[in-house]
Amino acid sequence: MIDIKSRVRCEAAQAKITTAEAAAALIKNGMNLGVSGFTPSGYPKAVPLALAERAKTDPLKVNIWTGASVGPEIDSVLTEAGVMDRRLPYQTNNDLRKAINNGSVQYTDMHLSHVAQMARYGYMYGGGNVDIAIIEACAISDIGDGKVGIVPTTSMGNSSTWVQCAKQVIVEVNVTQPEALEGMHDSYVPLDPPHRLPIPLVKPEDRIGTPYIPCELSKLVAVVPCDITDKVRPLGDIDEDSRKMGENLVAFFKDEVAAGRMPENLLPLQSGVGSVANALINGLVESDFKDLSVYTEVIQDGMFDLIDAGKLHICSGTSLTPSPECLKRFYDNVETYKKYIVLRPQEISNNPELARRLGVIAMNTAIEVDIYGNINSTHICGTKLMNGIGGSGDYARNGSLTVFFTTSLAKGGAISSVVPFCSHIDHTEHDVDVIVSERGVADLRGLTPKERAVVIIDKIANPKYQPLLRDYFERACKECNNSQTPHILSEAFSFHERFGKTGTMEK
Ligand code: COA
Repeated sequence: MIDIKSRVRCEAAQAKITTAEAAAALIKNGMNLGVSGFTPSGYPKAVPLALAERAKTDPLKVNIWTGASVGPEIDSVLTEAGVMDRRLPYQTNNDLRKAINNGSVQYTDMHLSHVAQMARYGYMYGGGNVDIAIIEACAISDIGDGKVGIVPTTSMGNSSTWVQCAKQVIVEVNVTQPEALEGMHDSYVPLDPPHRLPIPLVKPEDRIGTPYIPCELSKLVAVVPCDITDKVRPLGDIDEDSRKMGENLVAFFKDEVAAGRMPENLLPLQSGVGSVANALINGLVESDFKDLSVYTEVIQDGMFDLIDAGKLHICSGTSLTPSPECLKRFYDNVETYKKYIVLRPQEISNNPELARRLGVIAMNTAIEVDIYGNINSTHICGTKLMNGIGGSGDYARNGSLTVFFTTSLAKGGAISSVVPFCSHIDHTEHDVDVIVSERGVADLRGLTPKERAVVIIDKIANPKYQPLLRDYFERACKECNNSQTPHILSEAFSFHERFGKTGTMEK
């Protein structure tokens, strides 16, 4: 067995060291498992794999509650093994996506800041709570008082609340995660109403909790060694469209500073996940902006580049989501990067109270936008789930400035990303200040719906589809006698229907 004794700094916890198979045997049919992990970072691997193996001879189904997306050892393997029954609150896995869209896995897509408190309130499906928490750690320490401190790894997610709510706790001590991660985390669980107090965080760098997750020894039922690495994913190359969107964003920020609406070092930045989001941060690396701060959910390669360029003084998030190369760069220099990074529970990183207090600039990617400024982040052609809303809604509703990004075309130009009416709406017109495409910036602040339609079509739609969109808008205005938000409802979705039938929006 992999030797983890030196990382388990508590004799009573050492006595609980066991195999993944023995830990998986504690899991019973129908249980809710609260697992650590957010993006393919910091999730348990050995116990889920052992559970899938066990299911071959002893079939069972469980509900998996995570921070967000996790790695294939959970989302692919447990789906394929038929073990996954219900899943929340976010995912990005192909196998699981298929299972969700064919109805074999039940999926509850949630605002990420809501998840922990919903569990504590008892609002989850069936009113139950976490039966077993399975948490990846780089070490376990003795904090006295009959408790241990679980030191998390590359993400915090909902782990603090899972441990607090669970009847039993399994810890996977992963030897591929450096012990030097210790000190990077800030575990804090707010009290619930009517006892909740203001969260005492006023700057992105503030620490308000403990560098470990406290856990009663009596709940700790198994400590499992693991040497499987996080399956972090490579980022796509920065393409021409993403580079232009980055340039458009930087130009917009410069105008905001010049107009006195933003300080010279901007306000704390939040940036979504994926290649586009990373490319946007890259635009800032190449800009003149300095002394920046980040208050976000996922910390991707671009943030490390900003740190290396000396342009970022603090980066607060809930998860590290680097590419494989960047993960190595981080592991090789943990002590240096640790000075700039704080990992918090997602309830705190995505907290509405804090996004509003800090004045976070929310920057997320859309699947499609409509001419009135509504945003679809989750559903392809209105019916098929892509990933989920993730943290985009937490920040979009509460940030000081909310920006969405989309390329003007999708599917190699066969589709316009600007449509008359989004086929599914995650962020309403009321939550969207600015939309950026490779063509330009649509600044929607203070505009009426009809004014927004003109700006969106002119500034960010593709010339290939501008005539179609203008024609729709003009006829809708006539047909509705210039009503507040003109639509020809019988026609609005024909954009999507046309794509479904012919594979293109062109006539
Ligand atoms: N119509 C149909 N399909 C579309 C489309 C459109 N208008 N726009 C994009 N797509 C498809 C793409 O073709 C691609 O499908 P494929 O994988 O089968 O090729 C898929 O949607 C993803 O699009 P892509 O261009 O690769 O964008 P991305 O990786 O940047 O992801 C989102 C975009 C919106 C799916 C992603 O940002 C997301 O899940 N957002 C919601 C959660 C979120 O914002 N989290 C951040 C909060 S911190």
